Amino acid sequence: MTAGQPSHPPVSPDGTDQIGRSANSVSHLSVRPLSADDGLLALTSLVHSAYAPHAERGLRFWGTHQSVEDTAERFSTGQGFVAEVDGEVVGTITLRPPQPESPVALYRLADVWSFCQFAVAPAQKRRGVGVALHEHALVYASSLGAKRMALDTATPATGFIRMYKSWGYEACGHCDWRPHTNYVSTLMVRDIAAGGSVC
Ligand SMILES: CC(C)(COP(=O)(O)OP(=O)(O)OC[C@H]1O[C@@H](n2cnc3c(N)ncnc32)[C@H](O)[C@@H]1OP(=O)(O)O)[C@@H](O)C(=O)NCCC(=O)NCCS
Repeated sequence: MTAGQPSHPPVSPDGTDQIGRSANSVSHLSVRPLSADDGLLALTSLVHSAYAPHAERGLRFWGTHQSVEDTAERFSTGQGFVAEVDGEVVGTITLRPPQPESPVALYRLADVWSFCQFAVAPAQKRRGVGVALHEHALVYASSLGAKRMALDTATPATGFIRMYKSWGYEACGHCDWRPHTNYVSTLMVRDIAAGGSVC
């Protein structure tokens, strides 16, 4: 399985899947929808810790400083998912349907879903949790009719732009969330089915 060509793991009707992995990856990883029992304070702390390396580089992502209220508001724009390892929440992603009111034209398109608030706890990074959350989001969005997935990230975060390219995305423009951030963002998009060029 490669990240650029996801295997589309099975997703049950309640949006949960179990992922068996090996080697350096975690063995008891599952992804499920956010629930009312998930603590927003703990999730905000998780997001802050995941995004801390960006803050250390001087990049003011939303995730470096968002409040608990911001976390709730961001989840409310779509469907939140969390990844668990041995019952502990170690990652999250927020999947958003088309956003008719968005200032970003790409996000207003009827076939384009997007994601944000994508974070994995520092101790669990590079073990496949992020890919599992992302693939879960692709499958879920596809099941609801999405044709393309989009995101934006900091233009100076070239390592992450390379990562998303390796996951099938292409840069297709810019957007600007300043003063909430302190950088111009790069928009990226991929075809959900094929992972090919769609810009
Ligand atoms: C982005 C993030 C969620 C990825 O989660 P993760 O669990 O570490 O990712 P995975 O282990 O599933 O990574 C799979 C592959 O993606 C690529 N990748 C992951 N993190 C990367 C990084 N920091 N730089 C470059 N490539 C990376 C690698 O190819 C990796 O495979 P490998 O470890 O075998 O080389 C995590 O790094 C994170 O929380 N970052 C801080 C928050 C953030 O930047 N979110 C995205 C904002 S747009």
